[in-house]
Amino acid sequence: MWIPEEIENYCIDHSTRPGLVAQELEAHTRQEVHGSNMLIGEMEGAVLKFLLKINQAKTVVEFGTFTGYSALVMAEALPQDGKLYTVDINPDTTKLARSYWDRTDVGHKITQILKPGLEALSELNGKYDLIFIDADKRNYPQYLQWATEHLSERGIIVSDNTLWKGKVVHPAEDTQTPFIQEHNTLAKNLEGFTKVLLPIRDGMYLLYRG
Ligand SMILES: C[S@@+](CC[C@H](N)C(=O)[O-])C[C@H]1O[C@@H](n2cnc3c(N)ncnc32)[C@H](O)[C@@H]1O
Repeated sequence: MWIPEEIENYCIDHSTRPGLVAQELEAHTRQEVHGSNMLIGEMEGAVLKFLLKINQAKTVVEFGTFTGYSALVMAEALPQDGKLYTVDINPDTTKLARSYWDRTDVGHKITQILKPGLEALSELNGKYDLIFIDADKRNYPQYLQWATEHLSERGIIVSDNTLWKGKVVHPAEDTQTPFIQEHNTLAKNLEGFTKVLLPIRDGMYLLYRG
C-alpha cells in the first residue's frame, strides 16, 4: 500500500461499495484463508468495477480466482447476460468461491476453469472486454501476450501486482521480480494502447486498446 491506511479507507468510503456477499467473502477470507493478502480488496475492486461500467463490458477473463472476491465484484458490474471466466489451480479456494457466488444473483455469470492458466488459454477462444491478470507471476508475460491477441476492440487489460512491493525499482533477491519487470517492459512497448501504471495497492497496470 502506497498511501496511508486512513486515506485509503476514506477513498473506499467515497467509492462504490461491493455487495454484501462480497463484503462477507472478503471478511471470511481475511480471517480464515491462508494468503488472504492476495485478495484485491475494496479499492482495487472499485476501480475494476468503474472500468467495466464505463466500457460497458460484457465479457471478462480473469487469471487468478483465489476465493472469488475479484470475480464477484466484477460480475456485479456486468449486465445480466455478461460472462466472466476465471482460472485457478486451487480446488479448495475455488470451491469456497463458488459457495459465495451461489448466494448472489450474479453468480450465474461466472464460469470457473480449474487448471493452470497456460493450459486454459486454448479454451478461451473469444474476444474479451476486460482481461484481469492476477495469477502466477512467472507467466505474466505470456498472459499479457495472449491478452493482446484476445482483447476486444476497445478492451482493457489490467495486470495486478505490477509494482511488486516496489521491488521492480530496486530488485531484491526474489525470483518473481524479473517476470514482473519483463511484463512491465512488454506492456510499456505495446503499440496501439493507452497505458497507465497506477500505484493502487501493489500496482495496477491499465492498458486500453485505443
Ligand atoms: C493473487 S491470487 C488471486 C486473487 C484474486 N484475484 C482476488 O482478488 O480475490 C493468485 C491466484 O493464482 C492462483 N495460481 C497460482 N498459479 C497458477 C497457475 N499456474 N494457473 C492459474 N492460477 C494460478 C493461486 O492459486 C491464487 O489463487
